[in-house]
Amino acid sequence: MARPRIVVKRLGKSYGQVDALVDVSLAVGAGSVLGVLGHNGAGKTTLVDVLATRTPPSTGSARVCGWDVVRSGHRVRQHIGMTSQFAAVDDAMSGWDNLVLIGRLLGATKRQARERADALISSFDLRDAATRKAVTYSGGMRRRLDLAASMVAQPEVLFLDEPTTGLDPVSRTDVWELVENLVARGTTVVLTTQYIEEAERLADRVVLLAAGRVVASGTPERLKATVGKRTATVDLGSPAAVHRAAALLRRYRLSPGPIGPRSELSVPIRSPGDIPMVLRILDADGIAVRDLTVTEPTLHDVYLALHRAGWTTR
Ligand SMILES: Nc1ncnc2c1ncn2[C@@H]1O[C@H](COP(=O)(O)OP(=O)(O)OP(=O)(O)O)[C@@H](O)[C@H]1O
Ligand SMILES: [Mg+2]
Repeated sequence: MARPRIVVKRLGKSYGQVDALVDVSLAVGAGSVLGVLGHNGAGKTTLVDVLATRTPPSTGSARVCGWDVVRSGHRVRQHIGMTSQFAAVDDAMSGWDNLVLIGRLLGATKRQARERADALISSFDLRDAATRKAVTYSGGMRRRLDLAASMVAQPEVLFLDEPTTGLDPVSRTDVWELVENLVARGTTVVLTTQYIEEAERLADRVVLLAAGRVVASGTPERLKATVGKRTATVDLGSPAAVHRAAALLRRYRLSPGPIGPRSELSVPIRSPGDIPMVLRILDADGIAVRDLTVTEPTLHDVYLALHRAGWTTR
């Protein structure tokens, strides 16, 4: 991996009796997005909190932008931004005032802080809300303000803890586009989410946490390939044709799925040659194919497959 910005080795974090993180290792390359998936209590926020130096690890090590989160926490904080699951902007102040205040707290001059606030208000599309108190914002505006607040310092690495939870589909898409823009400009992002489609859209790599452990990791494509099945579904016009086709395909060692009440039959695709083979076999027997669709596995299938395989939860 070129220039990893985050390197985590055998990280553990316990809160009393609770092992919130157990033996977590991972690396995140510069300008890439790591998606962290898992059920409630899986350890997502804890992982982000340790990396953002909000809480120390119990065992193992983590480096962010080359700096150790325990020994050089202040250095780490100079390179990161964070939006937490529980946001930190001041409700009683306007969006613009919040951004200026954060800039001032980070050591900018009054003028620098104002210029940065202006730029963020415009790039996060908050112009209409700039002078209104944050308490009056909708959920989507509020989330954009949270993101803008985490970008005041132009951080190299951004931690987003459930950035779109509770947002409507349109606001969620807005936030996704903002994140994609930041990444296109070189920001490295760690994003926790309950939404599998969010990880699928934004993440270059994904880790699935369960009870504090990494139970699967890799590119979304790689993970999908592990549960594997692309499926071809043919519409044969009648249930009778489906029964004939299923018997025929079994003779050729293809394994058609269960036969339902409709006129469709699904066949798992194991190699690219399987689709033309299915069509040839059916055609040779005079079974007309009205329609053919090929379905790819989704990250959701991976999630469900792991769950069924006894993937432990709290
Ligand atoms: N400050 C704390 N004190 C005690 N236990 C904690 C603390 N923070 C987290 N935990 C426990 O650690 C485990 C992991 O919690 P964490 O908040 O990291 O999960 P999560 O994946 O972010 O969950 P959610 O999806 O609900 O946000 C849970 O069992 C939680 O109860
Ligand atoms: Mg959480």
